[in-house]
Amino acid sequence: MMARILVVDDEKSIRLTLCEFLKNDGFIADSAPDAVVACGMIAEKDYDVVITDIIMPRISGMDLLSTIRKTSKTLQIIIMTGEPSVDTAIQSVQNGANDYITKPISKEVLLKATRNAVNIKRLSDEKTALEEKNKFYQKQLEELVALRTQSLQKAMQGIIYLLTSVVETRDPYTAGHQLRVGNLSAAIAKKLQLNQETVELVRTIGYIHDIGKISIPAEILSKPGKLTSLEMEMIKIHALKGYEMISKANLPDIVGQAIYQHHERHNGSGYPLGIKDKDMITESRILIVADVVEAMMSHRPYRPALGLETALAEIESNADILFSGQVVAACTSLFRNDGYVIDNDEKIVHIPL
Ligand SMILES: [Fe+2]
Repeated sequence: MMARILVVDDEKSIRLTLCEFLKNDGFIADSAPDAVVACGMIAEKDYDVVITDIIMPRISGMDLLSTIRKTSKTLQIIIMTGEPSVDTAIQSVQNGANDYITKPISKEVLLKATRNAVNIKRLSDEKTALEEKNKFYQKQLEELVALRTQSLQKAMQGIIYLLTSVVETRDPYTAGHQLRVGNLSAAIAKKLQLNQETVELVRTIGYIHDIGKISIPAEILSKPGKLTSLEMEMIKIHALKGYEMISKANLPDIVGQAIYQHHERHNGSGYPLGIKDKDMITESRILIVADVVEAMMSHRPYRPALGLETALAEIESNADILFSGQVVAACTSLFRNDGYVIDNDEKIVHIPL
């Protein structure tokens, strides 16, 4: 495409001569007698280069320069100065001119400066177009990633809920137990001022912490009345089974660890590992307390619900004996000071993908 040049000068003979030179060299050349006319033409047509005189009636070349720069950074502007004054040249460049030539203007100097300016304009136009294209692709990519992440999270969420209901179908006496434990665990984690990611991870772990029960015979899980010691031992296996299942599922290690440890006790009297508090992960300490409180507050076939105060008294009297004192304090404060009520709703779960 031919480059379009605008010559601005109040002297008609100069306009005609310069346009003639430019046209003969293959440019499209228009001219304007002053800055006001020039501005109107620039607004209408896409010029590549403006070659302007400095001293003109009405508006000076310098003012034209500033006006153009307000709307275009890439339109090339060449200033024509009356005498070779360094000061004027510097000032014009500071105002945004790309080049300057001195009068009287020779054909060679004019064409050389113009060709140079056209090249720069083309390059900067290409650069701008590329940058815009890149920005567009980047935005598209970001949107796509966000969308995919969202649908993965959604799928993950669905699977977690599914696992929750699978266990509870097998162990009907504890319907809703995992959801309530998950929500209470998340509330305790929040009370302990753990970060949002941990809060949501603890919730997720709570939702599936008894997943290992799926490997225990249904007759034992649904047996009314007291269990024999052998049956008790079989139930205890669920922590290890849950851990094994999660390990194979390629979920974050922390999920499996917390499930493995959810029946341990502060002083090492729990099962299956018999580890002490210092060897537990934070998520387990929270889960243990939430599990006990929720279980005590719920009805069981062999006993009625024990009530909030009984549950809180139980964990308080065993603070730093069976349970982490810090977690006990957070949990009791949650119920007593913040008015927390056991929450049976499915919340959005989060698993780091
Ligand atoms: Fe359990």
